[in-house]
Amino acid sequence: MCGIVGYIGKNNIKEQLLDGLKELEYRGYDSAGFSIMKDGELYSYKSVGKIKNLVEKSKKFEIDGFGLGIAHTRWATHGKPTEINAHPHFAEFSSVVHNGIIENYQSIKQQLEKKGINFLSQTDTEVIVKLFEDKLENDAFEAFKNTIKELKGAYATLLLTKKEPETIFFAKVGSPLLIAKNDEEIFFASSDAPVVGKAKKVIYLEDGDYGYIKNNQIHLFRNDKELQLNWSDLPKNREFAQKEGFRFFMEKEIYEQSHVIIDTMMGRAYENGIKFEELDKNFLDGITNITICACGTSYHAGMVGSYLLQRNAKIKTTLEIGSEFRYKTPLLTKDTLFLVISQSGETADTLEALKMAKKAGLKTLAICNVDNSSIVRLADKTILTRAGIEKGVASTKAFATQVMVLWMLSDFFGGINEYKTFMKISKACEVTEKLHEKIKRLSKRYLNGHGFFYIGRDVFYPLALEGALKLKEISYLHAEGYPAGEMKHGPIALADPELYTIALLSKNLLFDKTKSNIEELSSRDSTILTISCEEIETTDDFIKINESNHYMIEFYEMMIITQLIAMEISVRLGNDIDMPRNLAKSVTVE
Ligand code: AGP
Repeated sequence: MCGIVGYIGKNNIKEQLLDGLKELEYRGYDSAGFSIMKDGELYSYKSVGKIKNLVEKSKKFEIDGFGLGIAHTRWATHGKPTEINAHPHFAEFSSVVHNGIIENYQSIKQQLEKKGINFLSQTDTEVIVKLFEDKLENDAFEAFKNTIKELKGAYATLLLTKKEPETIFFAKVGSPLLIAKNDEEIFFASSDAPVVGKAKKVIYLEDGDYGYIKNNQIHLFRNDKELQLNWSDLPKNREFAQKEGFRFFMEKEIYEQSHVIIDTMMGRAYENGIKFEELDKNFLDGITNITICACGTSYHAGMVGSYLLQRNAKIKTTLEIGSEFRYKTPLLTKDTLFLVISQSGETADTLEALKMAKKAGLKTLAICNVDNSSIVRLADKTILTRAGIEKGVASTKAFATQVMVLWMLSDFFGGINEYKTFMKISKACEVTEKLHEKIKRLSKRYLNGHGFFYIGRDVFYPLALEGALKLKEISYLHAEGYPAGEMKHGPIALADPELYTIALLSKNLLFDKTKSNIEELSSRDSTILTISCEEIETTDDFIKINESNHYMIEFYEMMIITQLIAMEISVRLGNDIDMPRNLAKSVTVE
């Protein structure tokens, strides 16, 4: 998830682009760059790291008067965060920025290389500008149209070319892109944040929209038809814009899960099975078992992974908590694949565990959300989760994408094809207004008890652990996740009306077993909120999920609900949802 901006006007074009990028830095800051077209000349600057490096690098470059500009801040998915891989990417006389993933970039690249066209970067994006120039004859717009027709995947892209020095070409599929204007300037952006306070009117482009702006005339097309321009008003408050209208970054990230989970599957989940460009088919040669090591929410994702790897890939999988692993003098053997999971890639306990495994000569694999982080740089191989920047300290979308990678990995190793089920997960992650309103109302009844038990069986046990962790982190109330069948071995002693039980009752997995565990708690008068597609008498409150034919679809629907329950209870308690007390987004100390 990168950020792109564009500008057409005469009010200090470089500053307009840099300001816009600063507002989008929350989307990614591995590298940044811009191109400005003025009087038929293209001026471009790129740098690695945060926008301030680009500001520094371009400080001597000054340009006045009317011009056109495109700019980009990067969240690396294809190719390391280097200057070569930073956007814009160039061909002979054109420049392009892009947010998204071009799924078929390798086949396009091979075609063009056969024609003697060379590529500088490791990115998927560079194929757009190279293909454009390869198709360019007399009509640049025709060439642009034929270029985007060949692209598969997700893209919001802006292109400049000396062949049309007064024009910006644009297209949108999947990734967000808007056009905004005031009386004398036109802006492009990935979200409202860069244009709030600068422009008055906005058009949010839809999938399949493309076109060009020339001489301040916007030409918007869809399916080869030129469209009417329907402008709407822009919001006034910038922080509001960065949260894209949500109250908190955590809320925004909960709602984003149905989108980012598609990015996680992009170029990996196919009708004929799973492919990881990061791993070759004999990656597991010599490996007889897997050890998963992580902390916090990532550890809970790892626990889900251990169920799926043993079930789908028939590989013995053990779990380790990073801080425990470091000092338990573990017996490490070279037939073990050491798999670490981390959103930030900087968690000290997980990083040190990885160093120990490397030192013992184990093959290592990382599942991470931040490219070029310490863990990514150290691990032999890395699969990026592509959740985009996660600002809320309480992890949500990173967990969703970590579980999806582990699930795909279990099918990849097991040679199983669950493509049809995968394609239902984005919908399962959708938050409906009806559901959210129901949880807002219900949460008022769960504020004053002496504690919570989240219970579940199989993959719903780690989900129970995760639900309890989310609540603890932001409500500061005591909560535990527990295997449903384990309650009778002690914790049920706490059961009374002030003990709140959140029961995760799957229809597709151990329904009767879990139901009887719920009845055990109900018979001791615990207050029970059951989440299931089937209501049972012995529950006090009930949140219905959709009937489905696979427990992982139920898993994701329940995941959303446990996240919303934690958030709405914490809102009622007046806590800081994004920056809860005593916590840090990345724990880089022991
Ligand atoms: C989760 O909401 C917390 N922020 C915390 O438990 C976190 O999962 C843990 O610190 C591990 O972080 P990582 O995924 O960045 O390694």
